[in-house]
Amino acid sequence: MQHEISNFNYYNPTEIIFGKNRIPELKDLISTDKKILITYGGGSVIKFGTLDRIKSALSKHQVGEFGGIEANPTFETAMKAVELIKKEKYDFILAVGGGSVIDATKFIAAAVLFDGNPMDIFSGGIGKGTPITSALPFATVLTLPATGSEMNAGSVITFKEKQAKVSFGSPHVFPTFSILEPEITYSLPTRQLANGIMDAYIHIMEQYMTYPVGAMVQDRFSEGLLQTLIEIGPDVIDEENHDYNLRANFMWTATNALNKVLSPGVPQDWAAHQMGHEITALYHTDHARTLSIVLPALLKVRKEEKRAKLLQYAERVWHITTGTEDEKIDAAIEKTTAFFKSLGAPTSFKDIGLGEEVIEPLVAQLEKHQQTALGEHRTHDLAISREIYRMAL
Ligand code: NZQ
Ligand code: ZN
Repeated sequence: MQHEISNFNYYNPTEIIFGKNRIPELKDLISTDKKILITYGGGSVIKFGTLDRIKSALSKHQVGEFGGIEANPTFETAMKAVELIKKEKYDFILAVGGGSVIDATKFIAAAVLFDGNPMDIFSGGIGKGTPITSALPFATVLTLPATGSEMNAGSVITFKEKQAKVSFGSPHVFPTFSILEPEITYSLPTRQLANGIMDAYIHIMEQYMTYPVGAMVQDRFSEGLLQTLIEIGPDVIDEENHDYNLRANFMWTATNALNKVLSPGVPQDWAAHQMGHEITALYHTDHARTLSIVLPALLKVRKEEKRAKLLQYAERVWHITTGTEDEKIDAAIEKTTAFFKSLGAPTSFKDIGLGEEVIEPLVAQLEKHQQTALGEHRTHDLAISREIYRMAL
């Protein structure tokens, strides 16, 4: 059956301010009548001087700070910022960090103006999933290319006690603008650089590796970005390599991997992310490292549903042109796995010291969080998730 490109609206209001030494422009980007709360993480922005640069750019503004947002940001910490904003009447937030700080800030911006219990912003077994109708304006200074959160309207929050990692999204939480200075990535350690390459790679795969609908632009964009990551990955993970164009290409690829330019009108999967979030919730594994464990197993288990696209991927991304269909697909999955390994990423539970004992708890988590009909056809049920987790042992 010939599939068609679905109807779509494409909307992305985030202004990107990209390049060298763009932080000083903050002084004109935010009007001086705003009272700004700067949000940040565990202190890398202090250690590497970014916060000082921002404060000096905003020397004419009224500014406060909220630090201590964790990697995999928690609801509990974000709610402290919500209280602070209400008490001290901030009306603009500037997130300085990676996906965690930006995601937390999106939730904070929404929760401050939410009428009701902010837990209800979430669904997935946590709250009522009430759509938000407004949010405080906020912007970002990105310090870690990976999630695309700087140019999208999604956020993933962890509920510590409930051991849940759930997302929400709304057009109200697009950043107003995001500053992307590739030189800010020079302080990143290899592990985070590798995480960034993998997260971006798998964001592209979630939007591409489904079934063909004849979307030539979306497909070629995806294949171009995947090839860029394969080409630059080995150099990017060298933390000493401060080649400007290398890091600029890395940063812009990661942003485009999840600013939704790849997915209008095409089917999407996102099962690797849902399955990966449960691994982080129970075992605190870095987000990207859960994906590199799940994706190769998922491609093997879902090979028939994804056959046509796997072949396209084999030929166009990995240039595999000889062999039977099955040989080409198997070789493409092999090459994908080898690429992740070359970045130092785990590709099995064994690689992170986990085994058989994790399977049932992870499947139970998926059930609890209503992740029982995943994938591009919504046919990826708990039995299939179990098979994938098992394949990843
Ligand atoms: O906390 P600090 O001290 O700042 O250190 C951070 C953190 O420990 C450090 N770091 C960040 N920039 C640095 C730096 N260290 C040195 N130099 C710099 N320039 O890196 C560590 C990891 O930061 P984090 O923000 O947690 O990483 P990432 O950007 O990978 O974000 C991961 C989070 O984003 C969510 C994930 O689930 C996870 O919670 N995601 C958000 C998405 C979205 N909003 O669209 C999509 C993604 O799929 C993902 O789920
Ligand atoms: Zn991700």
